[in-house]
Amino acid sequence: MGTNKTIALVSGANRGIGLAIAAGLARRDVHVLLGCRDLDRGEEAAAALRADDLQVWPVQLDTTDDASVTALAALIARDYGHLDVLVDNAGIGLDYDPTLSVVERLERTLAVNVVGTVRLTEAMIPLLEKSDRARIVVVSSSLGSFGLRADPSWAYADTKMPTYQASKAALNSLTVSYAGDLAAKGIKVNAVCPGYTATAATGFAGTRTPEQAAVIAIAFALIDGEGPTGSFVDDSGELPW
Ligand SMILES: NC(=O)c1ccc[n+]([C@@H]2O[C@H](COP(=O)([O-])OP(=O)(O)OC[C@H]3O[C@@H](n4cnc5c(N)ncnc54)[C@H](OP(=O)(O)O)[C@@H]3O)[C@@H](O)[C@H]2O)c1
Repeated sequence: MGTNKTIALVSGANRGIGLAIAAGLARRDVHVLLGCRDLDRGEEAAAALRADDLQVWPVQLDTTDDASVTALAALIARDYGHLDVLVDNAGIGLDYDPTLSVVERLERTLAVNVVGTVRLTEAMIPLLEKSDRARIVVVSSSLGSFGLRADPSWAYADTKMPTYQASKAALNSLTVSYAGDLAAKGIKVNAVCPGYTATAATGFAGTRTPEQAAVIAIAFALIDGEGPTGSFVDDSGELPW
């Protein structure tokens, strides 16, 4: 299935911010692969977007599963030969789960948010290298920012999600590493914070809509050649690491 369009893969795209990023990219005429752990849920999400005239293709993707990630890389290589945009969006937060110990929360959160992101990114780099406009967007969080957390007047200074915060701080560090490693190949890598958003992850308590949250990720997925790499941003601009 070839296409001349920009090809994007969004992880965790069957709901929430990932789904809104996928819809927003499709609205900008991007050929979007919806990475979904459960393909049935992915088909449902895709059907809803198609009813809105948006063309998206669900693909099975569990970022904690080597076989799933390897199979997806092979599918993209076979059907498209390259990838232009990777949005590392899949993520979890378990700090409020009373059934888990802190160690269990940390192990499971790092497995998805950090190791899963690296597993997917490593598998996609050879395909991104074949693009002349490759971008990686890492969906991080301001909760991972040491700079903001050090400011007692910051709106979320009292938020205590230690394992989630550690995972996003690690993701930020990896963003800087990947940006440096991939700069010579023209692949831009930036971390974005979508803001506090009404999704399943927040019990729909967030103050922003997924569509608002998606704006910054979409912008950095499509930044031009003059755009930054190795930055950490939200809607209001650069964030401290
Ligand atoms: N909501 C916020 O306020 C907020 C703020 C800052 C940053 N973020 C970040 O934004 C991203 C999206 O969050 P959200 O609020 O949209 O959460 P969400 O509604 O819970 O969606 C998370 C998505 O990640 C997927 N996922 C979980 N584990 C996965 C795995 N192992 N492999 C592949 N996909 C997996 C989920 O799939 P299933 O449906 O199969 O579980 C789901 O599609 C996360 O990285 C989150 O940390 C969110």
